[in-house]
Amino acid sequence: IVIDDAMEIKSFNIAASKILQVDLTKNKDKLLTSISKKNKLLTDFIRGIQEEIYAFGRKKQTEVIKEFEIKYENNNQVLLLQITPLPQNKLNNYVLMIDDITMMIQAQRDAAWSEVARRLAHEIKNPLTPIQLSAERIKHKLGAKLNKDDTDILNKAVATIVNQVDAMKTMVNEFSEYARAPKLNLELTDINKFIKEISHLFENSGIKIVTKLSKDLPEIRVDVNMMRQVLINLIQNAQDAMMNNTKKQIIQINTNKLKNHIILSIEDNGPGFSADILKKAFEPYVTTKSHGTGLGLAIVKKIIEEHEGAIAIENIKNSGALIKIQLPISKSK
Ligand SMILES: Nc1ncnc2c1ncn2[C@@H]1O[C@H](COP(=O)(O)OP(=O)(O)OP(=O)(O)O)[C@@H](O)[C@H]1O
Ligand SMILES: [Mg+2]
Repeated sequence: IVIDDAMEIKSFNIAASKILQVDLTKNKDKLLTSISKKNKLLTDFIRGIQEEIYAFGRKKQTEVIKEFEIKYENNNQVLLLQITPLPQNKLNNYVLMIDDITMMIQAQRDAAWSEVARRLAHEIKNPLTPIQLSAERIKHKLGAKLNKDDTDILNKAVATIVNQVDAMKTMVNEFSEYARAPKLNLELTDINKFIKEISHLFENSGIKIVTKLSKDLPEIRVDVNMMRQVLINLIQNAQDAMMNNTKKQIIQINTNKLKNHIILSIEDNGPGFSADILKKAFEPYVTTKSHGTGLGLAIVKKIIEEHEGAIAIENIKNSGALIKIQLPISKSK
């Protein structure tokens, strides 16, 4: 946007309208302050610009760079504003360069958060095994010296320590998995064959896995270990969901080819996602299970996105949950 020192808008481009979420075409030659009438949330931002323009008049500086946060209802937008006086500034015009750096800031925050999480997980994990071993050791050393009642108490207490520490280990492992830096070991993989292998693992589990696998599926590049984790997580969820089924527990896994993608779907015949979970099931720590971490689907989504794929969940009327995964067919082989 170009403005003069009276804050009148002299010119602008479409990107400015987009970033500020106001139609600037109706604002040419009007005061910049008038756009905060259209988008009230910009009031502080516009006031900030005004202050800087006045400061230019006093200080004769060459440019100003400043960050602003606009608080929208669902998410905040971070704008980077650069004000530069136009050369041969007889008319006292200024160029306002506005960059939407929301995504960049978010990416930086995510990276920082992952790093902290990774270190924390590591630090927590280290002492867990010594705690377990020490508890066992106390049991063996003291067990023989105590009377029956005290031995019972000791055994119970040690069992609690060992079990709870085990639970903690699992939690920390999953947590560090969630915070893990993305690094995929991609191999050309026959997804149908891969699904068959995994469904074999569940052969004697009392659950029936039915597959309908497309015949014209090309091999795609995936990290097989990561994908195994995805499938096992989803099957485990389906299994948990169908626990109270009165009908036979059935998981249906299908594959299909759609344009440049492979679609992999997993359907169960449990009760489906409850309404409040459906909206946020992929968020970390969302769980309805007493012993769930709520990281299962968060990790699944992360892995799929690292494969440049997408995942969505829905409920099927009268029949349960449906998880749809889309994976790109590799361009180069
Ligand atoms: N197939 C499904 N049918 C119905 N609800 C599901 C299904 N899969 C997941 N959910 C719901 O989504 C929640 C989140 O699932 P997620 O896998 O992220 O965590 P979790 O299964 O609760 O914990 P964990 O994966 O650590 O065992 C579950 O608690 C459950 O309420
Ligand atoms: Mg789960």
